Amino acid sequence: MATVVPHATDRPTAASPAARTRVAVAGATGYAGLELVRLLARHPTVTLTEAMSSGATGAPRPLPALKRIWDGSVAPLDVDRLAVNADILFLALPEAASAEVGAALLQRDKRVIDLSGAFRIRSDADRQRWYPATPTLPPGVVYGLSERHAEAISRAKLVSCPGCYPTAALLALEPLADAGLIEGAIVIDAKSGISGAGKTPSDRTHFCENHGSVAAYSVFSHRHTAEIEQELGTSVTFVPHLVPLDRGILETIYVSLRHGTTESLVTDALQRAYASAPFVRLTGSELPEIKHVAHGNFCDIGWRVDEARGRLVMVAVLDNLLKGAAGQAVQNLNILLGLDQRTGLL
Ligand SMILES: NC(=O)c1ccc[n+]([C@@H]2O[C@H](COP(=O)([O-])OP(=O)(O)OC[C@H]3O[C@@H](n4cnc5c(N)ncnc54)[C@H](OP(=O)(O)O)[C@@H]3O)[C@@H](O)[C@H]2O)c1
Repeated sequence: MATVVPHATDRPTAASPAARTRVAVAGATGYAGLELVRLLARHPTVTLTEAMSSGATGAPRPLPALKRIWDGSVAPLDVDRLAVNADILFLALPEAASAEVGAALLQRDKRVIDLSGAFRIRSDADRQRWYPATPTLPPGVVYGLSERHAEAISRAKLVSCPGCYPTAALLALEPLADAGLIEGAIVIDAKSGISGAGKTPSDRTHFCENHGSVAAYSVFSHRHTAEIEQELGTSVTFVPHLVPLDRGILETIYVSLRHGTTESLVTDALQRAYASAPFVRLTGSELPEIKHVAHGNFCDIGWRVDEARGRLVMVAVLDNLLKGAAGQAVQNLNILLGLDQRTGLL
């Protein structure tokens, strides 16, 4: 299975300070925002000019984990200052804050890469239910699943990065849906590490509640269901679980196949879809594990087909804070800037 990726020497070398694109991060003290700062500080063609957080403490804050990688300090959120000092703004904020800040930055003619759910849902009724802070979608919003929508992303005013669970589910299922191989129910059994819930502890995410345990949650009521169904164009049963890991997602996906679908049809559909995708690794019948993708921007997908019964089981894994959040956001930055998608990520 040959994966065609551009030759390593195609990647840009470090740009001079004057030629660099100015970027900023709002939400830099959060789990996803910290990863963004880490990636952007080392990106060869951008300069990180601002990092901001809620400002709840009222004073600039250092990021001790990034000392000698990024030695700036995190300032209280100031939309005007963001707009003046950067051309492309990353928002790693709770969705209500993103809805407000994203709209304000678009009005100032800035380009935005948003990690929240605020701009993901196109149907007004569904968005009203799941993300009520965004009553209307501004023009120029593109759903930012990098492997599927690169051309639209390159022209977007606001790239709405997919949720962590939908990224894994859609990368696994969309090629099969496109090829017409799915018939009947789709069940997505998903496991996530606790960082998926952000840094503020709750009864469910407190160490003593999840250490040594696994729990299903939000059955039939998780907002990522709406996002997966929107992109896939069909209904799914999606059941997330919290597992006692700090990071990583594993989804076991159960699919009924169209009558007569062979294993080679499934394999062909996936190989065709990802022949030139640097961050999707197809593992065939070797099923991937979270430890293979933790701390990286890969989504690994494996599968087994029971031809006699018309059943397919897929396993998709990714790091929720990278391919499921900050890594995919930087991949989308590279697409916006016309760079090799791997720039600053590999
Ligand atoms: N965690 C994941 O795996 C993941 C994956 C995909 C997408 N996302 C999305 O990415 C966004 C960030 O997630 P996260 O897990 O990194 O969250 P988090 O750990 O809770 O961090 C939230 C960040 O936003 C800041 N903030 C909170 N309220 C604010 C406000 N009203 N105004 C300005 N800044 C505010 C916080 O600053 P303070 O430190 O000052 O409070 C912090 O920097 C969310 O929308 C989430 O749904 C997360």
